[in-house]
Order: sequence, then C-alpha cells, then structure tokens
Amino acid sequence: MSPSDRRTFAIISHPDAGKTTLTEKLLLFGGAIHLAGEVKARGAARRARSDWMKIEQQRGISVTSSVMTFERDGITFNLLDTPGHEDFSEDTYRTLTAVDSAVMVIDVAKGIESQTRKLFEVCRLRNVPIITFVNKVDREGREVFATLDEVAELLQLDVVPMTWPVGMGGTFEGIFDLATNRLLLPEGDSREFHGKVIQTSGVDDPQLDAILSADNLAKLREDVELAQAGYAEFDGEAYRNGDMTPVYFGSALKEFGVDSLIAAIAEFAPPPHALPAEPAPVEPTRDEVTGFVFKVQANMDPNHRDRIAFMRLVSGTFKRGMKLVPTGHGKPIAIHSPILFFARERELADEAFPGDIIGIPNHGTLRVGDTLSERAGVRFTGLPNFAPEILRRVALKDPTKTKQLRKALDDLSEEGVIQVFYPEIGSNWIIGVVGQLQLDVLLSRLDAEYKVGAVLEPSPYDTARWVASDDAAALKEFLDLNRGALAKDRDGNPVFLAKSAWEVGYIAERYNKVTFAATRER
Ligand code: G4P
Repeated sequence: MSPSDRRTFAIISHPDAGKTTLTEKLLLFGGAIHLAGEVKARGAARRARSDWMKIEQQRGISVTSSVMTFERDGITFNLLDTPGHEDFSEDTYRTLTAVDSAVMVIDVAKGIESQTRKLFEVCRLRNVPIITFVNKVDREGREVFATLDEVAELLQLDVVPMTWPVGMGGTFEGIFDLATNRLLLPEGDSREFHGKVIQTSGVDDPQLDAILSADNLAKLREDVELAQAGYAEFDGEAYRNGDMTPVYFGSALKEFGVDSLIAAIAEFAPPPHALPAEPAPVEPTRDEVTGFVFKVQANMDPNHRDRIAFMRLVSGTFKRGMKLVPTGHGKPIAIHSPILFFARERELADEAFPGDIIGIPNHGTLRVGDTLSERAGVRFTGLPNFAPEILRRVALKDPTKTKQLRKALDDLSEEGVIQVFYPEIGSNWIIGVVGQLQLDVLLSRLDAEYKVGAVLEPSPYDTARWVASDDAAALKEFLDLNRGALAKDRDGNPVFLAKSAWEVGYIAERYNKVTFAATRER
C-alpha cells in the first residue's frame, strides 16, 4: 500500500441536492467497508448518540461529521462527511482542511445554491480540486448549457462536460459518456441503471438511431458538437490546481453516473500530497508518522467523558500502539486503541497510511488543530479559526455552577462547537458561533452532558477580531485604551469585540500598526 492508492475527499452541496443519496450509492458501488459514526457504541454511548440525533431529527439535518471508507480496483476512498445545513460550524470548514479533493453536487433544477457556494469558497482558499456532479437528471431540470455556464461564471472555473444526459425528466433516456463514447441505458420500470451499456463510435454512430428517440438524438448530436467547440479539453493539471472542474451528469437515485464518478475520482483526484507545516511542508513519503486533528467529538459516552479526536494521517505508516507527541504537550501518548475507519475487520486492522483518518480516544488531551508526530519537530499550519458571526452572553440559571460552566465551555470550544471569549472586564462570558444551529447544540449539550442550566442573552457585540502587532508599543497602547472591548480566547490570545463591522474598520484605521484578523491560524 502507498499514498498513491488513497483518495481522501468530501462532498460539498446544498441541502437536498442529493448528498446523502449519492453517498449511499458510492458506498454501495464501492463495497462499503465501514461506516464511522457507528464508532463502537456501548449501551450508554448509543444513548448519547441517540440524544444527539434528537437534534438532528428535529432539525432534519446531520450535525455530526463522520468518515466513510470504500474500496474499488485497489484504490481506497476515504469520504469525510460535511454537515449539510446552512447553519454550519467551523467543523465543516475544518473537515475541508483534511481532504485532498471534493465532489460538488448540484441539483440540475436549482444550480449553484448558497451553501454550495460558501463551501466552494473554502475549497478555493486551499486550492482543493473539484469534480462536479449534476444530480437528478431523471427529473426536469435546466438546460445542460445553462448549468455548465452557471458553474463557469459564478465560480470562475473552466468547465469540461465529461458526460451528457440524453433528454431529461420525462424524456430522459440515458447518459452519454463523452470520454469513452459509451451510452448508459436504463432498465425496467423504475428506469434505473443496472449496467446496460452500448459502446458506440461517437454520437454520430448510426446504431444510436435505433436506440434513442429521434428528438433526443438530434439534440444530443447538436449539443455535443456545440460543447466540443465551446469548452476546453480536460486538463489534469488545471483540475488539480483548482482552476478547472470536470462535470458529470447523473441521477444518484437511479444510479446513473455514480460509476463514472468513482472512476473519475480514482483516475483524476489527487492522492495525498505535501501539506503546509512548520518548519517545512510534510511530504506523504516522509518516514515518520505525522498528522493533525481536524475534528474532536466529545461525550460519546456521558459516563466517561471520553472523546474521539479525528486525525488525518499526513505521512508515515501508523501502527497500533505507536507513541505520538502532540504539539505543545511534550508528553508522548501511546495510541493503543485507535479507530481505523478503513478496516474491513476493525479489530484486526493495525496499520494506516497517509490520507487515512484515525480516531483516537482520549480524555481531552487532544484538540482540534493539534499536530501529532513521532519526533515532535513539526507543526501543521493553516487550520483556521473563523471570526464568529453571532455573539451571545452566557448567563447561568444557578450561579453556583460557574465552575461547571467554565469546564463545559472549555470542552465545547476545544471541540470546535463554539468559540469562547473571556472579557477583560466583567464576568459574563461571551460565546461566538458561525451559525445559529450551534447555539441550540450548545444549550442542549450544556443541559444534557454537564447538567448546567444556562440562557443565552444578546450581547452588545456583533463580531470579534484577533489582535496582533509587530510593534509592541502600538499593541500595548491599543490594549490599554480599549480594555472595555477586549477579551481573551481560550488560548489567552487577545480578541477585540466590536459592535459592528464598521467599528472594526474604524478602529483598524485608527490603530494602523495593529492587525485585526477575522481568522486565526492555529
Ligand atoms: P441531501 O443529503 O443533499 O440533503 O439530499 P438527499 O440525498 O437526502 O436527497 C434529497 C431528496 O432528493 C430526497 O427526496 C432524494 O430521494 C431525492 N433525490 C436524490 N437524488 C435524486 C436523483 O438523482 N433523482 C431524483 N429524482 N431524486 C433524487 P425526498 O423526497 O426528500 O426524500 P425521500 O423521502 O425520497 O428519502
């Protein structure tokens, strides 16, 4: 096994575009090995998960991310799930720091929607290459050209159609694969794809006259001619640089296009590559185990306060029982019972390779953003903290529970569920989130897991900025004169709490030697 046979990716989409359906079909076609999330659940843990799921069910969304693995033709695919709701958290962003590529699913009737756009921007920040899957062509949708041009214009990407739907909705007759000149046809009443394929010499092949309706065939020939003249040819390097996206049309529900998508990920998507780190980027071929924690899931078992840190392995061959040193902690930890998601028989598996995800049970030692390595000389960079968009004051229903509240807020900020700010003046802690949903998750977990009754009150602040300066005197002046609006984050870094974005601009202009950052890299 080597890094080149791993494909670690995520699906980005707007709710309802078909991510869940496509995920199921990918697992089905790929012969799923293991669904994470079913991380070994004892009785209590199972209950904790189902409490958790209550929120998911009430809101009709998936709050937790997980890891799914499947294998196909010698390639191991690690699919990291990203929560698909509009109110998403930093968790979603961070998951995208742990993948090498992404599949963007869009609904053929709706095109690019807001959530897809936001997630796409995160991918762009990190040059994550994207394969586009235009779903639901078994239903009425927009013209193929309209969809392609929208992707090109809105996302500023070169688009290359790789497959083409023959008809759509009521007139849907199959998918034409432009690279292989194969026609994929439905079978049976449900009009699903069961592998019926006709090899042709191209859209002009006369045998198509006997298979497709005259209208659809004429349109297919005309469209494909236009498309071949109008769009660039696929260029692997432009795709891997994040400048070009190959576009596949299909129907996850009817299983059209899923196979082509898996083949595309195997053929084009990048295997694990070097990741930014200090003092130098780490290549997957480095002969030392290194990785970073992109997600922590706490309290899977309410009695034990244990948590699982999800580590993306960047280099080396991980072996069960290995000792790794977390950044900044100094003390090596022995990893005796890792959860290896790719394992067919989880109990027997004891090795993992670059690109794989390892679940590490721990009691709060490991935090999101931590690097783990054998020799402790490396630190991965570029896992951002985002400026919260919603700030609230936390007030206790029972004032004797201050200690429990602090512990809970520390834990949950460590998990990336919320950010917590401790104001310099005053005792009401401020919590910050990126989306509304995180507030509901916070209150329900405070109550269920920490037995702390709390209410969230409006705060006078609208946003937060991390403050820094190379000029110690300028920084001190700013800090001294603005104590009323200052807080510390969980790591003790100074944060400016602003009443509006306008105020940030105003203050930044006044203190021009100080930087006010909307993200903080850990
Ligand atoms: P999501 O995870 O992106 O939110 O989407 P999900 O897969 O749950 O799909 C949303 C809805 O779209 C589901 O219908 C699903 O069956 C349907 N869907 C997904 N892919 C296709 C497709 O290729 N063609 C068609 N026609 N429909 C598709 P639902 O009615 O909301 O749910 P359900 O009752 O069918 O489960």
